[in-house]
Amino acid sequence: MNSVVFESSAWLNERALHIEQVLGQLLPAAHDQPARLHQAMRYAVLGGGKRVRAALVYAAGHACAAKQTPALHQALDLAASAVELVHAYSLVHDDLPCMDDDTLRRGKPTLHVQFDEATALLAGDALQPLAFDWLAQMPVDAALIVQATQVLARAAGSLGMAGGQAIDLESVGKTLSRDALQTMHRLKTGALLSASVKLGGLAAAMNPVQSLALEGYASAMGLAFQVVDDVLDVTADSVQLGKTPGKDAAANKPTYVSLMGLDGARLFAGQLHTEALDAIAPLGASGQLLAGLADFIVLRNH
Ligand code: IPE
Ligand code: IPE
Ligand code: MG
Ligand code: MG
Ligand code: MG
Repeated sequence: MNSVVFESSAWLNERALHIEQVLGQLLPAAHDQPARLHQAMRYAVLGGGKRVRAALVYAAGHACAAKQTPALHQALDLAASAVELVHAYSLVHDDLPCMDDDTLRRGKPTLHVQFDEATALLAGDALQPLAFDWLAQMPVDAALIVQATQVLARAAGSLGMAGGQAIDLESVGKTLSRDALQTMHRLKTGALLSASVKLGGLAAAMNPVQSLALEGYASAMGLAFQVVDDVLDVTADSVQLGKTPGKDAAANKPTYVSLMGLDGARLFAGQLHTEALDAIAPLGASGQLLAGLADFIVLRNH
């Protein structure tokens, strides 16, 4: 492992511990009524996950902030927590029997297995609006909260994650063109990753040059993240992944691996990595954390 990757994974580990603590404090307590629902929400969100989306919020925020202030840190904590909530909800629903029918997630039984299907639906229902509640609490200008709300809403909705998931389900057993596969991946996964980067920039009141750099980076890394997820579904084991590998092929899903083979998918991820680094070149040294995260996203083994 080269030193850049090592340093960025140390930073990512530190951020993962931090966001776990923030989320633990922000979420309703396990004994608050209705207790079973609150326990399920905490089960879905806490105790695992790479926290890449939260890290993207922090990295983008630090790349754009003119100065470090307590208000900036609080805004980034709330934005990072909000994207992790939407992500956790998307995983709970993605794992349901009517979708990917998975039993293992983050090394634990999936929520519907540990609790029941109705509780899994309700936990997702409750996590999503809570994310917007937290965004609304960011100590930033009201105009920035309006923009942040729209960014997250669009990333989660029918023109973002939920739309991508619909295309994913419609595509079972089909061979998609490269363009169609790219659209599906950009929506189901890229949209929320891009939103994470943008939210970090908004919380730090980014300027137009920073905004353009972040947009190019987010577009490339959002797609790269799902390309690598497709690769790992074939190459990694369940201990590394914390989820059952081989599910895409078993469910006959079109993926970058089925479209271009393992080497082709890896090569494509490498091209997107370069594209992301080129996009943030104008940020200079301020883009260092984003660059480290790009390395992690493409080189990860889980
Ligand atoms: C898995 O996301 C689902 C996809 C969108 C590919 P992650 O790989 O980020 O899952 P966690 O949060 O680390 O568990
Ligand atoms: C999920 O994609 C994307 C989401 C919006 C949750 P996958 O179905 O490939 O994610 P995993 O592999 O189950 O984590
Ligand atoms: Mg899925
Ligand atoms: Mg899945
Ligand atoms: Mg997958």
